[in-house]
Amino acid sequence: MAEKWSPDSWRSKPFVQMPEYRDKDALKVVEDRLASYPPLVFAGEARALKRSLASVAEGDAFLMQGGDCAESFAEHGADNIRDFFRVFLQMSVVLTFAAAKPVVKVGRIAGQFAKPRSSDFEKKGDVSLPSYRGDIINAPGFDEASREPDPERQIMAYRQSAATLNLLRAFAQGGYANLEHVHEWMLGFVDKSPQSDRYRQLADRLTETMRFMRAIGFSSDEYPRLRETEFYTSHEALLLGYEQALTRIDSTSGDPYATSGHMVWIGDRTRQPDHAHVEFCRGIKNPIGLKCGPSTTADGLLELIDILNPANEAGRLTLIARFGADKVGEHLPALIRAVEKEGRKVVWCCDPMHGNTITSASGYKTRPFERVLKEVQQFFAVHGAEGTYPGGVHFEMTGKDVTECTGGARAVSDEDLASRYHTHCDPRLNASQSLELAFLIAELLEQNRAPAAQRKAG
Ligand code: PEP
Ligand code: CO
Repeated sequence: MAEKWSPDSWRSKPFVQMPEYRDKDALKVVEDRLASYPPLVFAGEARALKRSLASVAEGDAFLMQGGDCAESFAEHGADNIRDFFRVFLQMSVVLTFAAAKPVVKVGRIAGQFAKPRSSDFEKKGDVSLPSYRGDIINAPGFDEASREPDPERQIMAYRQSAATLNLLRAFAQGGYANLEHVHEWMLGFVDKSPQSDRYRQLADRLTETMRFMRAIGFSSDEYPRLRETEFYTSHEALLLGYEQALTRIDSTSGDPYATSGHMVWIGDRTRQPDHAHVEFCRGIKNPIGLKCGPSTTADGLLELIDILNPANEAGRLTLIARFGADKVGEHLPALIRAVEKEGRKVVWCCDPMHGNTITSASGYKTRPFERVLKEVQQFFAVHGAEGTYPGGVHFEMTGKDVTECTGGARAVSDEDLASRYHTHCDPRLNASQSLELAFLIAELLEQNRAPAAQRKAG
């Protein structure tokens, strides 16, 4: 029998990756205030997302999750949110067309502030300071005051999340997501891409389809579905005091939901089965993500699935595989086989970012575009060989023209990294790298759609 869960039962468990606040009273005041604030999302929305993810688990839809590695207070502005959303929508149209299935859209946004770090300290010369852990905890500046965890930052993160979510809801429902616009933007990208010949074919087929739809009377003026979209939010459930403060009992079902975002995930460094992060996540009813990395074993994964999804509910659990391009083939098959053997219903999603981080010759943390693509290709190949469904992708991306990941059609070189390296944390795909990746994944989705016999022949 599992022990009784409550929103604060994680507090009696060991944990890693959470800050020690100096002023416990100030922390308590902040958590009490957050607990009195309105929820950011509703339980009903989290349930709707879970239903959509259940259809991904069944192979009837595809998940696209993406956004910043870490949102920042300094870069909070309408243009950033709009540019991100614009690229995200174009990617999802390309993927929807190629998969011929609905794409479930989940942003890493409106709450993605807390970061696990590989080291507790950052060293520069002789000075060693506590690591930066995301704007919800401390500040990136390399001085003692910046690195001190400040509880007030949680209030700022809550307010920024509310404002971001408000704009996203307006974009998603207020006409900005109109398929006709998204299609035009996408054509603009294809025209300018050095790879336009490769992408044009899919773009032209989509254009033809749009013309046909218009001809038979499906216009966005008459059909709201063509000018609106569903967009969900997600983040890593890392700072548990904040998550607990925003956990509410849903009046319809009587169940507890994290209302800080629609979906939350457990990171690669905090998925110890007897620790606080797993404890917190097992009790909330939202859809949950679980990062799986090279240290995940088949038995360890099944143990976590038992804890996190004991009722084997489809849509509850998304396994986010992040092995690195060269390690997918070695690790993923055993995990898939264990899950299949036990008949566990999960969504398999590929995060091709976190296992492919390297340090460039110029000293920047970067990710080569071709490694990112290769991990997705390997992920699809493994699922093809196992006869299972590659259900989605998970990216760190931005709508801006940054130079953080190398490669891509408009190649970013090692020397270019310095020019627009803006991330506070991990390197993100820029707007054109993101869209390019969507077109390349579209090729995989189209192959996947072909009947098995044809796939073998091809
Ligand atoms: C992340 O998603 O930003 C992250 C830190 O990932 P992981 O836990 O997989 O390393
Ligand atoms: Co990251």
